[in-house]
Amino acid sequence: MDINLIQAQIETDLANVRSLQALEELRVKYLGRKGLIAELTSSIPALAVEQRGSFGKEVNALKNKLLNLLAEKEKSLAGNNRKSGDADIDIGMPGIASGLGSVHPITRVIDEICAIFSHMGFCVLEGPEVETEYNNFTGLNIPLEHPSRDAFDTFYLKDYPKLLLRSHTSPVQVRAMKAHKPPLAIVVPGRVYRPDAVDASHLFMFHQIEGFLVDKNIRFSDLKGTLSLFAKSVFGSDIKMRFRPHFFPFTEPSAEVDISCIICKGKGCSVCGRKGWLEILGAGMIHPNVFKQVGYNPVKYTGFAFGMGIERIAMLKYGINDIRLFFENDLRFLKQF
Ligand code: PHE
Repeated sequence: MDINLIQAQIETDLANVRSLQALEELRVKYLGRKGLIAELTSSIPALAVEQRGSFGKEVNALKNKLLNLLAEKEKSLAGNNRKSGDADIDIGMPGIASGLGSVHPITRVIDEICAIFSHMGFCVLEGPEVETEYNNFTGLNIPLEHPSRDAFDTFYLKDYPKLLLRSHTSPVQVRAMKAHKPPLAIVVPGRVYRPDAVDASHLFMFHQIEGFLVDKNIRFSDLKGTLSLFAKSVFGSDIKMRFRPHFFPFTEPSAEVDISCIICKGKGCSVCGRKGWLEILGAGMIHPNVFKQVGYNPVKYTGFAFGMGIERIAMLKYGINDIRLFFENDLRFLKQF
């Protein structure tokens, strides 16, 4: 057998190899137990004695050459996955996908509620979380001796006795009405603060949405119609509402508003405390004293206002039983939204 011919064949074979697997097949073909090199070696004893030595050397040289060529090819095949000159960076390696975030359930509910009121023509407005005592209380007809003004019920700023963390979003009523003339229809989402002991349904910080509308001839029935459309949009068209008389200094008359329990549909269960009703917000007709504070003529204008806790709505909507879950940043919770 002509060693030179064999070497040429080996080189052609190698040039056609495109994968490590094909290279391994080639290695077996030439260097395997039944491969060509083994065949050549086993043919030596059949040769004339004086040919054996030189032929043996040639076979050996061929074998070494083959080993080198195979090693080189293997390197170059593996190198195809690498950027040349930078062997430590494997650009063919699958990347680490960055986790996709999602909208926080509180933001989701705020967005949904704002969208509902936007469709009814309300503007969305925000106000500061550090408020004046005037906007949070006095401007809203909350008298000096009212218990909610007590330091046990409101966070006051240490060195600023006239400033506090707003305890509700209602002070934005005062701000908006002082800045704009009627008619106006505004919703205000935002954080509020109260020094409550923390448990499954209380935190020292939570979110509210305030809504108010002022114009000529606004009646309680406008409030009812607006809130009824809101409740049906959020909780479904079969939801019922009821208004219970209540007291707020800044509205008169005032009501607490309940929806029929979304769990038991009004029959009574543990979520609604067997009452069949869930309280979701406070509302009423804006008190003439508030209009006087902001410089509106209470004879000319009337209006309604309402305020609701976002966490409570979100808990009812998504069946969440502990308010603390919203703010623990536990991905197992947040990933569900
Ligand atoms: N500000 C009230 C509260 O925090 C809610 C409310 C707003 C009630 C507007 C009536 C009108 O409880």
